[in-house]
Order: sequence, then C-alpha cells, then structure tokens
Amino acid sequence: MVPKEVDLKIDGQEVKAKEGTTILQTAKRVGVEIPTLCHQKALSPFGACRLCSVEITDKRGRKRIVTSCNYPVKEGLVVHTKSERVIKTRRLLLELLLARCPKVKKIQNLASKYGIEKSMFWIEDEEEDCILCGLCTRVCEELIGVYAINFAERGTKREVTTPYHELSDDCIGCGACAIVCPTGSRKIRINTYPILEEDTTEIEQLFLKGKKDESLGVFNDMFAAKSSVDGQDGGMATALLISGMQRGLFEAAIIVRRKEGYKAEAVVAYNVEEIMEAKGTKYLRVKMMSLLGKLIEEGKRKIAIVGTPCEVRAARKIQQIIQSEFPNVEITIFGLFCFEAFDYEKLKKETKRLLGTDLDKAEKTQIQKGKFIALVDGEEHSCRVKDLHNAIENGCTYCDDFTARLADISIGSVGSEKGYSTVIVRSDVGKRLLEKLEVTKGEVAKDEVTKLANFKKKRADKSLEPLFQSN
Ligand SMILES: Cc1cc2nc3c(=O)[nH]c(=O)nc-3n(C[C@H](O)[C@H](O)[C@H](O)COP(=O)(O)OP(=O)(O)OC[C@H]3O[C@@H](n4cnc5c(N)ncnc54)[C@H](O)[C@@H]3O)c2cc1C
Ligand code: SF4
Ligand code: SF4
Ligand code: FES
Repeated sequence: MVPKEVDLKIDGQEVKAKEGTTILQTAKRVGVEIPTLCHQKALSPFGACRLCSVEITDKRGRKRIVTSCNYPVKEGLVVHTKSERVIKTRRLLLELLLARCPKVKKIQNLASKYGIEKSMFWIEDEEEDCILCGLCTRVCEELIGVYAINFAERGTKREVTTPYHELSDDCIGCGACAIVCPTGSRKIRINTYPILEEDTTEIEQLFLKGKKDESLGVFNDMFAAKSSVDGQDGGMATALLISGMQRGLFEAAIIVRRKEGYKAEAVVAYNVEEIMEAKGTKYLRVKMMSLLGKLIEEGKRKIAIVGTPCEVRAARKIQQIIQSEFPNVEITIFGLFCFEAFDYEKLKKETKRLLGTDLDKAEKTQIQKGKFIALVDGEEHSCRVKDLHNAIENGCTYCDDFTARLADISIGSVGSEKGYSTVIVRSDVGKRLLEKLEVTKGEVAKDEVTKLANFKKKRADKSLEPLFQSN
C-alpha cells in the first residue's frame, strides 16, 4: 500500500511528507538542519540525547517540545526547529553533555555553536567520554546481531558494558560500535574488541613481522604442508600445537573440542592427548575469550589459543591491553581461515533438511570447493555451502578477515591440495613454532587465498555500508 501524504509546516515552509516518516527525515529532505547525536539512519531511533528537539504545535493548538528523530509527521503539524524554547532546550542539554564529557571535541564544538564554552553543572569525571547515546548497543544488536554490549546500572553509574563486566565471549571485533560512536569513546572498547584500520596497523607493528600484503596481511612465509597428524587437512594446527607444547613454548592451549554430538566447546589442553582429542574442524563459532581471561587470572604465563579470525582479533586485543600489567604473559595465536561459521542448532536443522542426515552423528565435516560435506557411517552427504545461508552465525557477514591477519600463524585448506594445510607465517613466534617440526611441503596457490580474502572483505564492506552513508 502506498503511504498517505500529509501536509505540515517546518520553519514556515509548507512541506509534504509520507505518513510514517519522522520530522527529522522530512526536515533534512527539505534542507532544514537539526543537530543530532544519537541518530543513525540505519538503526532504530532511540531518543537518548534529545538534541534534535523541536517545538511542535498540533491541530488543536497545543505546543510542546518533542525529539524530531522519533516523532512522526502528522497532518497539520507546525514545526519550529529554531524557536526560543528550542534553543533554550538545546543549550541546557549541551550544558549537561559538556558537564558529562568535558573533553570530547564533538560536544565542545556543538556547545560552542550555541555559545557555551563552559558548563555550569558539576563535572563528575573529567575523562568521561561516553554520552550514553546507545548507538553502540543498537548497532551491535540490530545490525550485527551479536548482543555483546548493553546498558548497566542507573543514574550516574549508568554505563555501556558487557554482561558481568567480563571479557566478551560474543564480540566478533567487527568495529561497528566504534564506527557509529559519535564521541570516539574508548569505553566501548573495554572487554570488547572493535578493531579499526588504525588498531590493526598498531597491532601488526607490535606483534607481527614480514611484508604487508593488501589482501593477506603481514607475513614472512606461505606454503602448503602436511604433518604426520591425521587432522582436518594437513593436520598442521594439531602438529604445531603438540610440538610447541613439547618444547615448552606454552603450558596450556585453548582449543575446541566436540562436546555432545556436533556441539562444540572451548577447553584448555595441558598435554598431547588433550590436543589430539580436539583435532578436526567444527564449523561453529565457539566462545573462548573468558577462558583466556581465566587462565591469565590463574597465573598461566605461556598460553596458546586456536581460533577463527574473530577470536584471533579478540586475543590480540587482550594481549595488547594487558601487556603493561602482565609483561611476562606470552600468548601464541593460531588462526584458522574462516569465511563464515554456523550456529549449531540452525546447522543441525538445515543439514537434516538438505542432507537428510543427523549432524550429531557426523564423524567429520568438511567444506571443500563450495560444498559442505558430512561423513556419516563412512558415507559422504553433501550440499552447496550457499544453501546453508540460513544457518550462518549472526555477524559473520560483517566480518572482513578471512586469513586471521593478526595471528602468529594462520592455517587453512584453501590454496592447497587435498590433505595439505595452507600455512601463513606472520611473526617470529610463528617462525619459531615451525622449527624442528618435520613436514612434507607442497605448492600453494596464493591467488586462491587472495581471491577469497578479497571476496570476504567486499562482503563486509557492503554490509557495513549503511553506517557510512550520511544520516
Ligand atoms: C568456522 C570455521 C570455518 C572455516 N572456514 C574455512 C574456509 O572457508 N576455508 C579454509 O581454507 N579453511 C577454513 N577453516 C579452517 C579449516 O577448516 C581447518 O581448520 C584448517 O585448515 C586447519 O586444518 P588442520 O588439518 O591443520 O587442523 P587440525 O590439525 O585438525 O586442528 C584443528 C584445530 O582447530 C581447532 N578448532 C576446530 N574447530 C574450531 C572452532 N570452531 N573454533 C576454534 N578452533 C577450532 C581445534 O581445536 C584444533 O586444534 C575454517 C575453520 C573453522 C573453525
Ligand atoms: S565490535 Fe562488533 S560485535 Fe563487538 S561490541 Fe562492537 S559492534 Fe558488537
Ligand atoms: S566469519 Fe568467522 S571469523 Fe568472522 S565472525 Fe564469523 S566465525 Fe568469526
Ligand atoms: S538525535 Fe534525536 S534524541 Fe538524539
């Protein structure tokens, strides 16, 4: 149904607008500027900052102040965006915002436009940089679908944080919260891992060594290899974990093991047997960062972690943050190539429908040449990976990293022959891991890896595009 049109007036201008649109949208369309802080076109309006306040007179002549970002246009509405009352309201709000975040440039500039250089209100914390606009929580929930952060507490203690203030097990480091934050708040980065381009460069300089490749990140070696372990591909992840543990390079390793059927969980391995028990890919996103936090708290100082690129991003961010407090903590990061991961329940349902088989009974699963293959009772059942789109984990289409660019060593199957792993060595730690490990080397097709890496980056850029479009 075509929406009805209504007639209204904005600052004396006769305007037509579609029913269901807001005053803010209509004002912008006809060139009337209204300041906003907590508004983002791609997200639902929240009405938190109230800076977009305007004065309306309805058909019955009643006047009041409303927030234009979430107030719908109505027939006969008269809107004033710059009346004395509106300016007074905005000035008061800016005084309050300036008292909350006195050092934030964006607030200072906005306040200055309204003739305010200093707030008359009490400043609680000079370093506060979060205005509680909720853009970060909304983007994480509504667009990315991850729900890693939310508001907690009330009154002056109100803040954006992770459940129980713990290291997030859900954050995929997509950076969307940092992109939308109007003040560039560092607070949303506590216990979550949004990594922007500048963070990547900083981390690369701190931890990695080699030449930077536009698509594959920093690396000093890339090859195909097969180990003596009968793993997912060339068994390189397991072989390197075992060799590293035997040589004392780490005392504990966070790995992913099947728990029940195809369900998987992150566990800590302390010996070769436990590492071997976890070989093979589970095409799921598995929560692991709180485990890393716990190991550090327990006093473990040499820890290895195997994860998908999102887990790698998170582990690196933790390592970067804690390095001054815990200079003797060594974290060795194994990254797995990952185009996307699946949600266990949804994957079980979809494989039942498409493959006619029970995922929980699969001895092995494999993604190869665009096919998802489950080996059940020695028999291969397969479908196109494309057809499993309903089972993809929330957020994966916003993730731009295929090769785990921040790992010490990245491992995948693309680019190598069947039975071989593609290995990318990115740091001295990665190089050291390979010393003393006997492997059979093979040819690697770098262009195949590059192609998928670029494809994934393009998909993420497209998904995040709405956040960069003007409001
Ligand atoms: C969700 C997911 C998607 C992937 N997609 C691709 C892809 O598109 N293209 C590609 O080339 N490679 C992909 N891989 C990587 C590939 O499947 C192999 O894991 C990799 O090649 C290592 O093989 P391997 O023989 O060395 O592993 P193995 O020696 O068998 O060891 C595998 C290691 O990975 C760990 N592990 C298993 N599942 C998970 C998990 N879900 N999260 C964290 N750690 C886990 C295990 O604990 C084990 O230590 C993906 C991996 C995952 C987890
Ligand atoms: S980085 Fe992404 S997943 Fe993590 S909190 Fe921010 S928006 Fe959510
Ligand atoms: S695509 Fe892979 S690396 Fe990216 S968020 Fe999903 S599971 Fe994590
Ligand atoms: S922009 Fe409308 S309330 Fe913040």
